[in-house]
This record gives sequence, structure tokens and C-alpha cells, in this order.
Amino acid sequence: MAWHAAPALRMLRCAATGETSTWRRERQRMTTADDTAPLSVQPDAGDGAGATPAPTRRVLCFGHRGARGHVPENTLLAFDLAFDLGADAIECDVQRSHDGQPVIIHDGTVDRTTNGSGLVSMLSFAELRALNAGRGAALPQSIPTLEETLDLVRRRGGQLNLEIKGESVEEATGTALAVEPYLRALEGEQGRRILVSSFAHPAIAVLKERLPWLRVGALFSGSEWRRQDMLAAAQALGAEAIHPSVRLTVSALVQRAHAAGLRVNVWTANRRSTIARLIEWGVDGLFTDYPERVIIARAQLWAPLGRPAPE
Ligand code: G3P
Ligand code: MG
Repeated sequence: MAWHAAPALRMLRCAATGETSTWRRERQRMTTADDTAPLSVQPDAGDGAGATPAPTRRVLCFGHRGARGHVPENTLLAFDLAFDLGADAIECDVQRSHDGQPVIIHDGTVDRTTNGSGLVSMLSFAELRALNAGRGAALPQSIPTLEETLDLVRRRGGQLNLEIKGESVEEATGTALAVEPYLRALEGEQGRRILVSSFAHPAIAVLKERLPWLRVGALFSGSEWRRQDMLAAAQALGAEAIHPSVRLTVSALVQRAHAAGLRVNVWTANRRSTIARLIEWGVDGLFTDYPERVIIARAQLWAPLGRPAPE
């Protein structure tokens, strides 16, 4: 896709879904300083690494909760749009309904993202499915099931980062056990397309013990991880990657992770300058609400090197 095609595609999708407010917001964004500034990389003052090198690997683009910068998050609409915009993968959050069914939603309550109210864990699957998770979109959107999401990823030939949520480690472990049969059924080529992650590391450990072939990533958020060893925590889980927040990520961490054989997937990079800096540090994956920004930055940063970003 030509680098300028993605915004046009997005506009078309917005028009198709009647999301004129999204369109207007997007036009505003396209004229912000961050969006019009040329891509440039600043030396990282924080870790003393000095001037940053050219990228050495192709960064994987994860559409965060789909393409949530454009359409309602964690909906099939958002997942399809992320792939339309060029994302290699989507990220979504999974929890359990009161009756134990996996459902794709971020918050502990349905209040922010649907027309309902209450705790996800207190609502039945039928009650959750009756809600509209597509506020602002022309057509109502159901809270997706895990099965629908897996089907969409298979149909689009993409990859999936399934983030196990839970208000507590116990709840997250319950969710992990609820998704286990779905993952077990995918062992083989389809299973390789899925990367499971969680802030609740014990939930990941339970899954990894039951499904040793499963690809897993360890999520990190709080500032305590500036002092604690993310790499050791990830290795203890048998993770292939660390998933640190943007705030926790410095180029020295990327280098140390690579030296330890771990990939680095960073969330959530939305500013063009942040995306460019992280690509030049050599991160392996970027979670973004605006997949087209990563696709464009990836192409632009590789172009001066005279070759496309490697597959
Ligand atoms: O998995 C990356 C990111 O989604 C983690 O944070 O709160 O957006 O689910 P959150
Ligand atoms: Mg998430």
C-alpha cells in the first residue's frame, strides 16, 4: 500500500460506517504538529546510549484494541479496520462473563464502552451480547466473542495478541482457564499466530504449563519495573517477549532484551515521534491506536536505506 493510502482508506471506512465525527477528528489530527513534523530521532537522553542507530529489523504493527483511534475499541469493526490499515496483528483484551464465557472487552465494567452498566463479571454472556459496544458507529456492534475474534484473525491472515484481563490475579487465572480450550484447539500453524500476554504473570504461567507450545509475552506497567528485572520475570515465564509500556522503554532495555534472546513489543505508541524513536531503537513490535502511523513510519525509516523493511 502506498504510504498515503492508509488515511484515505480510513476516511472511506469512516464514511462507510457513517462516522463523521471520527472523520472530523482525524482531519484535525492530520494537522497537529505531531502529525506534520518530519520523522526524526532524538538521542535518548535518559539512558546514555547517545545517537541512535538505523533500524535493523522490521517492526510488527499491533492494532491496539483494533484501530481504536478511529472506531469503537475491541469491536470486530475495529479489528477489521486495523487490518485494512495495514496492521500485522491486532491486540484485544479478554475477560469472563458471569457464566464463564470469554468476551472481548477492556474495562472491568461495561460503562465506558457500551450502552449498559455494571461489572463484566456480574453480567451473563447473553446480557453482555445484548449491549451495543459501538457507540458513535453507524451500526451497533456486539461485544465480540473470542471465537468471532479468532475467526476474523484467521480470515484476515493476521496475528493476534490476546491480553488476559482480570481485576485480580485469581480472576485473570480464571480467564486464562476459560480461554485454554480455544487455544488448545489451535495447536499448530494457527496457534503460532497467537501471542498471549497479561499483567497477571501467574495467569500466563498457568497457561504455559498447560500449553507449553503457546507463545507468551510478559506485560509491564508500573514504575517499580524501572528497578526490578523485567527480563528475569519474562524468562521465568518462558516468554518470548517483554511488553513494556512506552514509559518503561529505553534503548538500553531493548539491547539487553535482545542480548537475552527476548523480543520487545511496546505499548502504546501513538505519536509519530515516539513511533520513530522506538523503531530506531530496534523494537520488535509496536502497539498503536493508529496502525497507519506505524506502517508509514516503518516505510519512511527504511526508505533511505534503499530497501524495504524486511518481512
Ligand atoms: O497489551 C498492551 C496494552 O493493551 C496493555 O494495556 O490497558 O491497554 O490493555 P491496556
Ligand atoms: Mg490490552
